[in-house]
Amino acid sequence: MLGQLEEDPSLLLFITTVTTMLSRPAFLAFEVALIVVAVVKLRSSAHKNKKKMEAQAKVFKRVPVADLPKLQDDTILQAMYGKPTKRIPVWMMRQAGRYLPEFRALRVEHEFFKVCRTPELACRLTLQPLERFGPELLSACIIFSDILVVPQAMGMQVDMVPGKGPVFAQRLERPSDAPSRLVMKPDVEKTLGYVVDALNLTRQELKGRVPLIGFSGAPFTLMAYMIEGGGSKTLSRAKRFLYEEPEASHALLQAITDVIVEYLVNQVTLGGAQALQVFESNAGDLSPRLWSDFSLPYLAQIAKRVKQRLGESQRVPLIVFSRGSNWEGTLESLCETDYDTIGLDWTIDPAVARQRVGGKKSLQGNLDTATLYAPSEKIRQEVFEMLSKFGSKQGLIANLGHGMEPEMKPENAKAFLEAVRDFSGVSLL
Ligand code: CP3
Repeated sequence: MLGQLEEDPSLLLFITTVTTMLSRPAFLAFEVALIVVAVVKLRSSAHKNKKKMEAQAKVFKRVPVADLPKLQDDTILQAMYGKPTKRIPVWMMRQAGRYLPEFRALRVEHEFFKVCRTPELACRLTLQPLERFGPELLSACIIFSDILVVPQAMGMQVDMVPGKGPVFAQRLERPSDAPSRLVMKPDVEKTLGYVVDALNLTRQELKGRVPLIGFSGAPFTLMAYMIEGGGSKTLSRAKRFLYEEPEASHALLQAITDVIVEYLVNQVTLGGAQALQVFESNAGDLSPRLWSDFSLPYLAQIAKRVKQRLGESQRVPLIVFSRGSNWEGTLESLCETDYDTIGLDWTIDPAVARQRVGGKKSLQGNLDTATLYAPSEKIRQEVFEMLSKFGSKQGLIANLGHGMEPEMKPENAKAFLEAVRDFSGVSLL
């Protein structure tokens, strides 16, 4: 009851007024005092409500990209374009993640997607690895967000369930249901503007120390999540419909592609992203044939259209990470696309990748992420071996072959970064 009065002082006003009207004059002074208290409470509650509404309505003010702080060191961008650099730049997939105690401390207070939607929080998490390791060790930040914000923008409800990962409230039963169930042409600026805000704010806070990478999931990976309703070991449902409903699958992939193009362009032109990575994390579950039909054409289309839309004046390097698809011919096909850099997972020998790609694209990767469970001496040894296998330091960005795991020690991530820095001083034959 007291709580209710606190919430709604008008109730207090009502009760005191009624009792005043009913009671004897001896209590009048006391009752008048009660009314005064109620009125004061009512006014302060209205004031609080107004403040709350103002805070909610407060629109984040973006700084025009041309006025954002200029980069002090663009080594990693030069490497992505294949230009010679003085050292090997490095970043780590999922570097802003649960392996950092400072990340966990902030995450316990806020739900995952709430963090994604709150630019101040996303910005703080994005900067954490840079604050810990410094720009001498870490060459870029990647914006804290998730690939599943795109299905959300298309009208699907996705929750991050602790211990389980992403879960869709209602999966897409089949691709042919998409036109009736999804928002096929969402207003990208309206539905994903919060990611653009987070990028813009982070660019301001970075003060030009290192470049900021934006990203998106790739169409097939996103479609697979929509159809499976979450993570899946086999992707059997998603793959089934590539055979059962190829046309509806293509229509859905095309709709997702259109959203991604708009989204990535906005990340650069309005958010200030300085490089973009496209994650085809589920590629490895496809056969080479399915990959050529349902993944590659959309990956290629994204790079082509984004590049065209940005033009020379706003150009940024584009990275493609097609995980698990190192079959014969796939790296070669990616060489024909408009990406500047190919991200490699840990399943390919860097020397083989270099030989297949030649000088056509820069390469990024590809230390087996599990190496970070090893003692620091072993990490160092593995990093040196990996980097020497790439053969040339030109067109090389060091990274892991996949995202950091929550159980990994931050000191081991540091050992990885230090090893890359130290290898930069070693000459390659
Ligand atoms: O790399 C970064 O630091 C930037 C942020 C980033 C996240 N997710 C944050 C995140 C990026 C680039 C992603 C991409 C992403 N999200 C991918 C593609 C990359 C890959 O891993 O292949 C995929 C498949 C997703 C979907 C997703 N989000 C999964 C499978 C999970 C793991 C769920 C779990 O419980 O292990 C997430 C959650 C997620 N995204 C976390 C982070 C830091 C951890 C969850 C948390 O904070 O509770």
